Amino acid sequence: MERTLSIIKPDGVSRGLIGEVIRRFEKNGIRIAAMKMIRLTRKQAQGFYAVHRERPFFDSLTQFMSSGPVVVMVLEGENVIEKNRTLMGATDPAKAAAGTIRRDFATEIEKNVVHGSDSPETAAFEIGYFFNRFEIVA
Ligand code: CMP
Repeated sequence: MERTLSIIKPDGVSRGLIGEVIRRFEKNGIRIAAMKMIRLTRKQAQGFYAVHRERPFFDSLTQFMSSGPVVVMVLEGENVIEKNRTLMGATDPAKAAAGTIRRDFATEIEKNVVHGSDSPETAAFEIGYFFNRFEIVA
């Protein structure tokens, strides 16, 4: 059984997509093991995306991610890292496959509705960034 971190980004929350995103997870056999709504400070967003700090989009991305509430979740299931990435679609919604969350709802590469961990190592860091072990329901 694998775990991954999912974030419904500020654009997804403000556009009323929380239910739709969660529905897609549940419909596809993904279990939600932890969930909360929070508003990131700029510093918390910078820490979360620290691997991207040299990228040209870092300032804009961290500004966006701290612009409003987000929903953070721990997803659990077999092969869930890959499964979640398939459901999300490519980072750039213009390149995302039909029927994916980003293709159906995202407006641009930055405001792309959802985030998902890209590897087991990243998932471990990202889950630990938001949740302690008492908040994850086995
Ligand atoms: P995410 O999966 O959260 O990982 C890093 C985020 O940076 C990505 O989704 C986008 O929101 C953003 N991002 C990635 N590439 C670009 C880019 N070329 N321009 C702007 N934002 C980007």
